[in-house]
Amino acid sequence: MMVAHPRPLLVILLQLLLSCLPALGYSSNRFFYQDILNGNGNGEIHFNGVKLHVDSSQPFVFALRGSNATLSCRYWYEPELSSPRRVRVKWSWLPIVGGHETDVLVAIGPRIHSFGDFRDRVHLRQDSPGDASLVMTELQLNDTGRYRCEVIDGLEDKSATVNLELRGVVFPYQPPHGRYNLTYHDAQQVCQEQDSTLATFEQLFQAWEEGLDWCNAGWLADGTVQYPITKSRSPCGGLGLAPGVRSYGRRHRHLHRYDAFCFSSSLRGKVYYLQLPQKVNLTEAQQVCFNNGAQIAKVGQLYAAWKFMGLDRCDAGWLADGSLRYPINNPRRNCGPMEPGVRSFGFAPPHHKHGVYCYSAGTR
Ligand SMILES: *[C@@H]1O[C@H](CO)[C@@H](O)[C@H](O)[C@H]1NC(C)=O
Ligand SMILES: *[C@@H]1O[C@H](CO)[C@@H](O)[C@H](O)[C@H]1NC(C)=O
Ligand SMILES: *[C@@H]1O[C@H](CO)[C@@H](O)[C@H](O)[C@H]1NC(C)=O
Ligand SMILES: *[C@@H]1O[C@H](CO)[C@@H](O)[C@H](O)[C@H]1NC(C)=O
Repeated sequence: MMVAHPRPLLVILLQLLLSCLPALGYSSNRFFYQDILNGNGNGEIHFNGVKLHVDSSQPFVFALRGSNATLSCRYWYEPELSSPRRVRVKWSWLPIVGGHETDVLVAIGPRIHSFGDFRDRVHLRQDSPGDASLVMTELQLNDTGRYRCEVIDGLEDKSATVNLELRGVVFPYQPPHGRYNLTYHDAQQVCQEQDSTLATFEQLFQAWEEGLDWCNAGWLADGTVQYPITKSRSPCGGLGLAPGVRSYGRRHRHLHRYDAFCFSSSLRGKVYYLQLPQKVNLTEAQQVCFNNGAQIAKVGQLYAAWKFMGLDRCDAGWLADGSLRYPINNPRRNCGPMEPGVRSFGFAPPHHKHGVYCYSAGTR
C-alpha cells in the first residue's frame, strides 16, 4: 500500500526552485545549488551522486507481551562521507486496525520525542554511526503492525519497514447472548473485556498450524471474518475442501454479526484455582477472589496461563464473563479430549455453585 506522507514545505519550495532553474536560463548545475541549499552548517558538501541508503536487517520481528523488542534500521551514504551529517529520523506505525499512520518517535540530532501510547516506551538504540533502530519496551497486545523508519537528510528521504508481530494464543469467543451476535466493534470490545485483542490473520494462521479447529466464523482485526479448520467436514466448508483457514472475506462492520477470535499473550502475575471449603455462585466467586487479594480471572488470562505457565487443572471454575472453563496441558481420563486445551462449559446460570479461577497481578 502506498502511504502518502507530506514533505516539508521548504523541501517542496526547493524542489520547485531547482526544477525552474533551467527555464530561468541557468544551466542545471545542481552541484552548486545543492551545496548552498542543502548545507547543514557542519561543513559537509552534499555532492550530487552521494546516495543515502536505509535498510533493516530484520524486517520481521516476533515478541511477547511485556517484553522488549528492537526494530532494526540502519542508514549510510554511498560513497562514504568523511564526517557525520545531522539527519532527522522518524519512526511511524501503521496499525492493523484503523489503517492510518501515526507517529512513534522523531529524532533530530540529540533531541528525541515519542508520541501517544509510545511515550516513554521507545528510544533509539544508536549503537553505532547510522544506527536508527527503535527499542520498544513493555510491548502491548495492540502494538502489532508495520513500522516505518524514515531518514531525512535535506532533500533525501529514504525509509525501510519492519513488521512487528506479537506471539501468543488465539481463542474463539462467543458472548453470553449467543452465537453470531457481534458486530466488528462489539467483537473488539468483548476481546478487550477478556484482557485480549482481536487476533490478526497471522496470529489465527499460526494457531491453525498449531491445531486450532473451530467451526464458527469470527472477526479478525483487519475486519475480515474467518475460521480455522484442521479436519475437513461437511458443516465446516465441506469434505472436498482441504484443511485451512476459511475466509468469508471482509464483512460489513456494522451490519454483519459473527463471533470473535481474540488474542492474548504472556501475562505478568498468576492465574490459580482457588481452594475453597465449598463451591460458590458467580457473585461469591468475585468476592472470594477479591478477599484473596486478586480478581476473578478473565478468559484471556486463563488462556495465557494455560499456554505460557502450563496451568493444568481438572476443575471447572467461574471466570469473569460468567463462563465455566478449565485448563488442561496433560490430557488424561475424565478431563476432556485427549489433546491439551482450555475446556469450556459455556455460560452457567449465575446462582449455580462451582469453583473459581483468580488472577493476581503480583506473584503471590
Ligand atoms: C526492557 O528494557 C528495560 C529498559 O531498557 C529494562 O529495564 C528491562 O529489564 C527490559 N525488560 C526485559 C524483559 O528485557
Ligand atoms: C492499546 O492497549 C493499551 C493497553 O491495553 C491501551 O491502554 C491503549 O489504549 C490501546 N491503544 C489503542 C490504540 O487501542
Ligand atoms: C444479540 O445481542 C443483542 C445485544 O447486542 C441482544 O439484545 C439480543 O437478544 C441478542 N440476540 C440473540 C439472538 O441472542
Ligand atoms: C450468591 O449467593 C449470595 C448469598 O451467599 C446471594 O446474596 C447472591 O444473591 C447469590 N448470587 C447469585 C447470582 O445468585
